[in-house]
Amino acid sequence: MKRIYTIIFIFTIVLLTFYIPFVQKTMGDSSHKKNYCIECHIKLNGKPRAVVLEWENSIHAKNNLECHICHGGNPDVDDAKAAKDKKSNFVGKPKKKDIPEFCGREGCHDQALAQLKKGPHYNSVLKIGSPNCVDCHGDHNIQQSTYHIITDKTCSSCHSVEYSRELVNSIISIEKNIEDIEKSLDYMNERNVESKDMTQRYNELKSYFHQLVHIFSKQEIDFTKKLVEVEIEYLDKELQSKIASIKRLDLIYILTSAFSIGVIITFTVYIALIRRRRAKIQKDFQSR
Ligand code: HEC
Ligand code: HEC
Ligand code: HEC
Ligand code: HEC
Repeated sequence: MKRIYTIIFIFTIVLLTFYIPFVQKTMGDSSHKKNYCIECHIKLNGKPRAVVLEWENSIHAKNNLECHICHGGNPDVDDAKAAKDKKSNFVGKPKKKDIPEFCGREGCHDQALAQLKKGPHYNSVLKIGSPNCVDCHGDHNIQQSTYHIITDKTCSSCHSVEYSRELVNSIISIEKNIEDIEKSLDYMNERNVESKDMTQRYNELKSYFHQLVHIFSKQEIDFTKKLVEVEIEYLDKELQSKIASIKRLDLIYILTSAFSIGVIITFTVYIALIRRRRAKIQKDFQSR
């Protein structure tokens, strides 16, 4: 009897040595780590609180990119001074002229920065701090961008209203053309028509067009406009001929179906007639 107690005792000890670290581990995992940048800032007033509310709806929040990804600092301590220790590479509010480098650091938006550097606006940013990334995209409430984030108002603080309007309109009109092509390509995909080459050419065109907004020189706009026109003409022609052949196939399909249905109906009627005739002959024969 005594032996049984000893075995149970040893068994319990062994079980506990495995179980306790396991419980500690899972509890550590399930209690989601607090981010004290957010915890503290949400309790502040004015702008330092507003940034959290804006950030919460942003594309960065949706991708779990929290405050310290951009600002550095240590999000694990509940103390403003310790959180912003020099050692943790904290960057406070960047100066306007530093914003392109702040957003365009490697691993983030280096491509957009390289594009901005190619155009005349980068010089203006270095001199007067504008037009920088935040002027067009916002700072904490950043969303997936389309051309519609810029209007003539974005430009007319520096350029004349007419010039701004003309620039924005010409960009929007190029964008419309591109959208039309996309619709046609979608239609072809739905109909399983081979369109790989065209899709590739279309994607190249689109990405070329999309970098325009960061470069913005007159030459670049004119060149892109020409390129888009040429490409659109080519793609449009290809599309029209492919769509025409889809329509031709549709017509052939309808005619063939109609013909097949006609044959089936004729055949059924024919069979019915024959059976009726045979029945009549049989009846005549029996009544004789
Ligand atoms: C315990 C509270 C607390 C914590 C934790 C905290 N902050 Fe702050 N933060 C503040 C206060 C208070 C201010 C100053 C507000 C003011 O000056 O109006 C501030 C200011 C800032 C500023 C503006 C600085 C400037 O140069 O204008 C930034 C950016 C910032 N915090 C980011 C962070 C980040 C990133 C973290 C986490 C790594 C963090 N904060 C953690 C309380 C906190
Ligand atoms: C995508 C990068 C990014 C993220 C993420 C981000 N910030 Fe910022 N933050 C910026 C930029 C850029 C500025 C400068 C904006 C300007 O000058 O208009 C800034 C400015 C600030 C300021 C100063 C605001 C002012 O005008 O006085 C505070 C405070 C701040 N951020 C706190 C935070 C906190 C807290 C979080 C997390 C909830 C956060 N930021 C997340 C990029 C970011
Ligand atoms: C003159 C206004 C303007 C400025 C300045 C600007 N952007 Fe943009 N950005 C736009 C617009 C408009 C779009 C959307 C274009 C489109 O539909 O492709 C965009 C698109 C983007 C995209 C998305 C690109 C993609 O591939 O989806 C990123 C990232 C971006 N910008 C980052 C930046 C950064 C970083 C800076 C500063 C270095 C910056 N932008 C400066 C207007 C601007
Ligand atoms: C903060 C001031 C500022 C804002 C805002 C601004 N620009 Fe500019 N832009 C400049 C400066 C400075 C130059 C270079 C000097 C010049 O060529 O006039 C320039 C040059 C240009 C050029 C080249 C002109 C040429 O002849 O090559 C284009 C195109 C342009 N901007 C378009 C825009 C558009 C579109 C917007 C709005 C989305 C805009 N800019 C917003 C300051 C600004």
